[in-house]
Amino acid sequence: MESDFYALVEKRQSCRDYDATREVEEAKIQRILEAGRLAPSACNSQPWHLIAVTQPQLLNEMADALASMGMNRWASQARAFIVIVQEQPNFTAWLGGWIKNKHFPLIDCGIVASHITLAATQEGLGSCILGWFDEKRVKRMLAIPRSRRVLMVVSLGYSNEEHRTHNRRDIESIASFNRY
Ligand SMILES: Cc1cc2nc3c(=O)[nH]c(=O)nc-3n(C[C@H](O)[C@H](O)[C@H](O)COP(=O)(O)O)c2cc1C
Repeated sequence: MESDFYALVEKRQSCRDYDATREVEEAKIQRILEAGRLAPSACNSQPWHLIAVTQPQLLNEMADALASMGMNRWASQARAFIVIVQEQPNFTAWLGGWIKNKHFPLIDCGIVASHITLAATQEGLGSCILGWFDEKRVKRMLAIPRSRRVLMVVSLGYSNEEHRTHNRRDIESIASFNRY
């Protein structure tokens, strides 16, 4: 089926090689943040705060906080980051989550990350979701209250990578009709 959306989903991939000489335009970051803002959430709770990091000094500090034990060393090439901070859910989402034993804010922030990476792809940018980083250090450098959790950081920049085929399990093994 012809579709811009499916083509976009196919195009998105985690980018770990950026053109460090090419800045990301602020208007693009604004539109990507807007795509995050429009993400759905349980009871429309919107339990997130998004921080766009663009200042050169902070980019260097972020790259240091993201890299350790051989992970994420490439992050020093990224030209922007969006930091996804988990906020308190509203009362209805909290109560619903308590009754149903589900942590809705984690799910909600995951959806935000997905909107962000797809929007970045639409903007012609490479992106990567990062879950491995020194959370305390990120909080300190961005003045994030100690009580908050930083769930993910999304790196952004112009990609040097070729498109890869997605390494995924077969559809039959992950999806079914009408029963497990
Ligand atoms: C919650 C989450 C955390 C991730 N953390 C990292 C990370 O710290 N470093 C990294 O290089 N990739 C990270 N990734 C990217 C995954 O490795 C990647 O999405 C997966 O291998 C599929 O590849 P693709 O995104 O290119 O399709 C993370 C992805 C998610 C969703």
